[in-house]
This record gives sequence, C-alpha cells and structure tokens, in this order.
Amino acid sequence: MNTREIVELAHANLANTYGCLPLAFARGEGPYLYDAEGNRYLDFFCGLAVTSLGHSHPGVVRAIQEQAARLTHVSNVFHTEPMARLAARLCSLFGDARVFFCNSGAEANEAAIKLARRWGQEHGGGRFEILATVNSFHGRTLGTLSATGQEHYRQGFQPLVPGFRLVPFDDPGAMERAVGPETVAIMVEPIQGEGGVVVPKANYLARLAELCERRNLLLIVDEVQVGMGRTGRLFAHQHGGIRPHIMTLAKALGGGLPIGAMLARSEIAAALTPGSHGSTFGGNPVACAAALAVLDALEKDGIIENAARMGTYLMERLTGIAHGIDRVAAVRGSGMIIGVVLKEPASGVVEACLKERLLTNAAGGNVLRLLPPLTLGREQADEGLAIIERALRNPLERRAGA
Ligand SMILES: Cc1ncc(COP(=O)(O)O)c(C=O)c1O
Repeated sequence: MNTREIVELAHANLANTYGCLPLAFARGEGPYLYDAEGNRYLDFFCGLAVTSLGHSHPGVVRAIQEQAARLTHVSNVFHTEPMARLAARLCSLFGDARVFFCNSGAEANEAAIKLARRWGQEHGGGRFEILATVNSFHGRTLGTLSATGQEHYRQGFQPLVPGFRLVPFDDPGAMERAVGPETVAIMVEPIQGEGGVVVPKANYLARLAELCERRNLLLIVDEVQVGMGRTGRLFAHQHGGIRPHIMTLAKALGGGLPIGAMLARSEIAAALTPGSHGSTFGGNPVACAAALAVLDALEKDGIIENAARMGTYLMERLTGIAHGIDRVAAVRGSGMIIGVVLKEPASGVVEACLKERLLTNAAGGNVLRLLPPLTLGREQADEGLAIIERALRNPLERRAGA
C-alpha cells in the first residue's frame, strides 16, 4: 500500500482521538524512518520517547525474534524466564524493591495510585489523597487523568476520581502547605514532558523527598517519559540524589514493545496481596525479553553516556542558534529531552522541520520538543540542527486541523 492508501484506510476506521499527520512509515533503521514510498526521515521524536536505542536495534530485534519463536504468552498465573529476569534486574537497579508489570505508562501510574491508597489504608491511618502538580501529565485513564494537571485533557470526562489535588510544580513550599490530614502521597514527574519540557530546580525532588520522610508520605516519581537513560542517567530522579518510594516506567523500557512497570520499595509493595491488582498481558515474555535487551544495550554500549554528551552538545548548539532568533524565548532540558520555548505556538516550526523530513513535535503548545535517540551520532545531530535552525528562522503556517 502507498501512503495515501494507508492514511485513507486508517482515517476511515480509526476513532478520532489523534491529530494524525498524513504519513505512514514502513521501516526504521537507527535514527531514520522510511515512509511507504521509501523517503527517509530523521527521527527526533522516537515515537514519543519510546525507540530510544533507534529503530530496529539489532539486540532488541534478536531478543524479540528468539522469544517470539519460543513462547509469546502464558499469563500471570505462571512464570517465564524473561519476566523473572527482568523483575530481578529492575529491582536491583532500583534497590530493594518489588515490581508490577503492565503495558503502558498510564497503567503503571494506575498501579502506583492503587498501591498508595492501599498502603494508606493499611499503614497510613486511612489516608488516601494524592497531591499531583499543575501542568503535569500522568496518563488518560480516569485515575491518571485525575492526577493530570492540564485542563484540556480533562474536559468532557468529569466527574473525575476524587482524592486528587493539584499543586504548583517546582514549588516545595506550596507542596508542604498543601499536605492535609488525608494526604498519603505526592506524585510528580522529574521533568514535565507533555507540559513542555519543564525542568524544575536541581533540589526540587530532594525537597519533596525530605517532605515525604518528615510527613510519612509516599513519593511517587513518574519516569514514564524521562526514565531509561533519556536524561543522561538511567533514572531521572538519580540527578536529585533521591530514592522515591514508588517509580513508574514505560515508553523506552521495551525498546518499542508495549511494557510498563511500577516499582515500589519492598516494605511499601507489601501492601499488595494476591488478587489486589493485575493485568493479563503484564510481564509478557516477548516484551520482557525486549526490555532485557534494552538494559543490556544501555549498560554495555555506553549509550547513557552518549545521551549525556550529545544532549549537552545539542543544548549548547541550540542555545547558540536561539541567540539570533527573536521568536525563541529559551532552550531547556536534560540529556536527550530538550525543549525550545517559543513566543508563539510551536506547530509552525514542527511543520517546517517535517517539510525537511525531520520529525519533532510540539509540547505544552509553544515548546518544540526534541526527543532524539540516545544513540545519536554527531553527524545526525548536525543534520537535525541545521534543519531546526532553518525552521526556527522560517516556520510554516499551521495546517488546518493540525
Ligand atoms: C510522564 C508520563 N506519564 C504517563 C504517560 C502515559 O503513558 P501511556 O501513553 O503509555 O499510557 C505519559 C505519556 O506521554 C507520560 O509522559
């Protein structure tokens, strides 16, 4: 099928939940995607921070193929080796923990919310309230939407789940004042990704961790977008020198396969008992084999170091480029999650990049968000930067309906 045929067939049948671009990709290799006609695109989007090792990473492909040929599913009534090995690996990386496997970021956060409530009932004197932050994004299920601090995602879905309150981001004082007699947990992204790559002050997480210790609250850190090496550390909270009570992962964990994980300190996770939570596909052996291959690559191939180094390079170059361009207000980020903040909607710059076959996207309305593969080389970084510079100088008009 050609692009037009694929797009028309999809539009005729998909629920209208995404503002899809009229593009259809047929294959990917490293930092490049190829459309149905064979045109090459440089990917600074990574399927929304998922394909962090680049497309068709040989180690991930091999792991998926071998596991798919052996066994694809047994349910959580039984065990499989990839699931057991991934659980052990993640728990040892997080340190003295238990993991719950699921299939997406929202599902991982739902598990975190349910665990916090369960723990609050059993060990927290019946407390249940979760404080989340203004401008956050935690998912689109009713529970995670209730923790999401952006009004436009919530519209039309009220009433939401009770027991959530929103507090300004990067304001530990406001968070402390918001803690009430029913508060059991604080839920926060280390960097607000969907909110526009908003990076808090360096000590923000440490201040929240200290508050949680003092007030007997759980700190839930949502690493769905920024975990797995994206910021130049395996987990973004490591920059803050803290250890949360609960951490959620998804997106890049499976190298392109759907998998989510909720990790909790062992003593907290003990509140979950058989039957209290579950997910049919959670811990799927093919997804777990892929995640093990992702961890192997991150640990052995110096990819996280590359993300830190290349992220610094991109930030420095972008800061220099932005200097001479009036429509740019700031450049911010950490490692390979970078936001170019504009004084206008970012869609025109995204469109101009796309015209030159560079994939980016807009977050928080006026932020050009860059999520390149962590494996990016200098040559491809320069290729992308040249396009971004031209796009920042000459953004396109926003397409109708885009
Ligand atoms: C920080 C964060 N949490 C949760 C989610 C939801 O993940 P999913 O779309 O896999 O449900 C996202 C998705 O963008 C995210 O960025």
